[in-house]
Amino acid sequence: MRTQVAIIGAGPAGLLLGQLLHTSGIAAVIIEQRSPDYVLGRIRAGVLEQVTMDLLDQAGVGARAHAEGLPHDGIELLFQGQRHRIDLHALTGGRRVMVYGQTEVTRDLMAARAAASLPTVYDAHKVQVHDFDGAQPRVTYEKDGQTHEITCDFIAGCDGYHGVCRASVPADALKTYERVYPFGWLGVLADVKPVCDELIYANTERGFALCSMRSATRSRYYLQVPATDTVEQWSTGQFWAELRNRLDAEAGERLVTGPALEMSIAPLRSFVAEPMRFGRLFLAGDAAHIVPPTGAKGLNLAASDVGYLWNALADYYNDKSSAGIDTYSDRCLRRVWRAERFSWWFTSLMHRFPDTGAFGQKMQDAELDYLVHSRAASTALAENYVGLPLEL
Ligand code: APR
Ligand code: PHB
Repeated sequence: MRTQVAIIGAGPAGLLLGQLLHTSGIAAVIIEQRSPDYVLGRIRAGVLEQVTMDLLDQAGVGARAHAEGLPHDGIELLFQGQRHRIDLHALTGGRRVMVYGQTEVTRDLMAARAAASLPTVYDAHKVQVHDFDGAQPRVTYEKDGQTHEITCDFIAGCDGYHGVCRASVPADALKTYERVYPFGWLGVLADVKPVCDELIYANTERGFALCSMRSATRSRYYLQVPATDTVEQWSTGQFWAELRNRLDAEAGERLVTGPALEMSIAPLRSFVAEPMRFGRLFLAGDAAHIVPPTGAKGLNLAASDVGYLWNALADYYNDKSSAGIDTYSDRCLRRVWRAERFSWWFTSLMHRFPDTGAFGQKMQDAELDYLVHSRAASTALAENYVGLPLEL
């Protein structure tokens, strides 16, 4: 088989790239190692920046996010028993975020891809990428006991942190940067009314907590837990009790509990691989970088990488220009590092670290106090939270 762009991975990055390329008349095949149901079973963050909403619209898949998503104009920060509202809308000249689950974004992208009869190979095993340092890259995989080969002009590595694309780059061509945090997030998804109509980020003596939501009747809550905890150590009853302990009295009283639809622990990590292009192989999304989830930048960064890649490939095929391809990595990494900085900062500010010490704790307290009482500091949080612009 031959195509113009072989996309490895049918997560949000790969699927969004596929739809955007389709709008520009560029042919792509997506090769995914899992089944559609497995991909849709992953519960991830749910806050979309305007930049991401715009890309979903440009891909022709934004309708349900607009109809069913919850526009949020502010977030609440809870510390020392008090909640403080950050008015994102007022502080950013009218911008806001859309609360809409990544799973639903993926579902909408899958439906659009199927409706346009675009080729996707699910359950592909032993996926390998070849010859991306030459003029004609290839992808091979096994499916139903047979080996298949796709030749292409470019390979888009949208295969997540554990994917094959970054792993196929010679180690001496890659520089990686990493920070692992000494805690994870224990998450519960439940069909209960959200405790608040905005997100609450809480820094408490017992650790961080986050109250988020998927709809007016479905909540998503998280607790900071030691990195060594396993989900088996936690019952839903213990989860609700600990969450209530980390909320202010009013929110604690309003908290509605119920059975967990999903409960899992995610480790927290910051990671960047540079560069993001090797000849005719591009990395995008989690394949190139990971942010800790505080601030929900993961999906938004994946979308902005894909926005740059789409523009680069459209310039190549439609205007015969390689400029976008040549600048892809630098453009992505500039936005990536700014989001890495924000996610690291917001994580450091909101969590309790085992080795902080008394002075460090006073510094965190003072920074939170400054943040909510200084318009300049609140604005810096707000403009990063709603998302920095996509500079094309
Ligand atoms: N061959 C084919 N597909 C693969 C391979 C492989 N060797 N390895 C991984 N994949 C698939 C995975 O099964 C997954 O469906 O690639 C896909 C990658 O999807 P994601 O991990 O969701 O990554 P991405 O599309 O970059 O989305 C980024 O996901 O992790 C969150 O916070 C992150 O929200 C962000 C978003
Ligand atoms: C979520 O809804 O899952 C979510 C929201 C905000 C975050 C992280 C996760 O910062």
